[in-house]
Amino acid sequence: MAKSSKTSKKTAKTAKPKKSTLKLKNKALLKQACFINNDWKTAKTGEMIDVVNPFDGSLVGQVPSLSKAEVKKAVTHSQKAQKDWAKKTAFHRAELLHKWADLIEQNKQDLAIMMTAEQGKPIKESLGEIDYANSYIRFFAEEGKRVYGDTLPNDKDDLRYVVLKQPVGVCASVTPWNFPSAMITRKVAPALAVGCSMIVKPATQTPFSALALGELALQAGFPKGLLQIVTGKSDVVGGVLTSDERIAKFSFTGSTEVGRKLMAQCAETVKKMSMELGGNAPFIIFDDADLQKACDGLIASKYRNAGQTCVCANRIYVQNSIKDKFVKLYQKQVEQLKVGNGMNKNTDIGALINQDAMKKAQSLIKDATDKGAKLVTGGKVHSSSKLCLTPAILDNVDESMAMASTEIFAPVTAIYGFDTEDEVIQRANDTIFGLACYFYTNDLQRSWRVSEQLEYGIVGQNTGLISTAVAPFGGVKQSGFGREGSKYGVEEYLTTKYWAINVAD
Ligand code: SIN
Repeated sequence: MAKSSKTSKKTAKTAKPKKSTLKLKNKALLKQACFINNDWKTAKTGEMIDVVNPFDGSLVGQVPSLSKAEVKKAVTHSQKAQKDWAKKTAFHRAELLHKWADLIEQNKQDLAIMMTAEQGKPIKESLGEIDYANSYIRFFAEEGKRVYGDTLPNDKDDLRYVVLKQPVGVCASVTPWNFPSAMITRKVAPALAVGCSMIVKPATQTPFSALALGELALQAGFPKGLLQIVTGKSDVVGGVLTSDERIAKFSFTGSTEVGRKLMAQCAETVKKMSMELGGNAPFIIFDDADLQKACDGLIASKYRNAGQTCVCANRIYVQNSIKDKFVKLYQKQVEQLKVGNGMNKNTDIGALINQDAMKKAQSLIKDATDKGAKLVTGGKVHSSSKLCLTPAILDNVDESMAMASTEIFAPVTAIYGFDTEDEVIQRANDTIFGLACYFYTNDLQRSWRVSEQLEYGIVGQNTGLISTAVAPFGGVKQSGFGREGSKYGVEEYLTTKYWAINVAD
């Protein structure tokens, strides 16, 4: 399980959305309607879905539950918009993307408040995510200007060969709740930069961050239908986005389990796809590493978003000769982390997304301790909220325990001992996943050996933070395929057309 877009159980028929009590400078950013063809639409049936604050269970607002027909109408708008947009210059497209990014920057505080309210992450992380989201827009706005075709050496006297790079067409994406803004911009920005249009279905738990991006796109002057944000039940909205033949490309970030189903749905109309799925990141600390740096890197990786990222360190392998020393150092720092309401500027660990996430974390801890792991610290429900978990450290974890093969997705550090390099590489690769991995060493020869042998799409050496717009993010094995960010992320939204020209008189 990871960041699947599970639909909220709470749907209700109401004519008018309930008033939100969120304190925003610009209240107009909180949209309780879908962004379709530059207009704000509710569902014809009046059906709305509640969005609740995971920290205190209060209602953040409501969003429409669209019908299939309503989503299909959005696809029609998207198709029309794409045809016009593809004719614009890359420079024109970049200008509009930068305007969007400027507005996002200007509204950063409100966007962060909305994100913390619906997602639970600490406000300092929400502010960081808005910058992170914008970095994708700015990067791809410029990268769109560097989409080059090719001319090829000819093998026949009278033929010339040209390769054209063209936008793939209408795109759709389903995005996760753990990064409600950044996972949208890293799909939308490359798509728009190269001449595609995009329909986004945000996670049902975190639609307001997405809808606010729609409002700012409108203010930036985006043409009608270019970017649309549709909300509703996953099977209804996702069903259309994966099956409508007018959609050429589908991009998903979420769990491997959901990804498999969506891939099967896309197969019928043979869509181009990118899938950023679950992970089970090993984090290896060799005995020659700088332990303080390893400790800081592990905290950054493990406790980001309360452990709810697909690149969070999941299995921490520490060489036995330094394990006790490392655990003591790490425990001291972990116990300083502040747990509680994400709205407080000092909070380091906010609420988990829902009760299922809490239950899963508790049951993984119980399974591990029942089988002999030692709970060094934490792992208790915090007094501030029933969805806040105090950061846990488990020592002496081994592969017989469920957390070794499960994406924990909670603030729980699982520490495994190891003796040799060969052994730890074999254990680190012994998983169906292959998204991110990390290792700490100062030995140059070992660096190359280990990095080459780890079967992962992303390797962090002596760092716990690997996410950036300038590098290709994505996995191997059952962590998916396709890359987001960097020049490789642009390719995902392009087709390659080969053009043979007869130049004989
Ligand atoms: C994710 O958890 O899906 C993405 C994390 C990141 O971009 O750093």
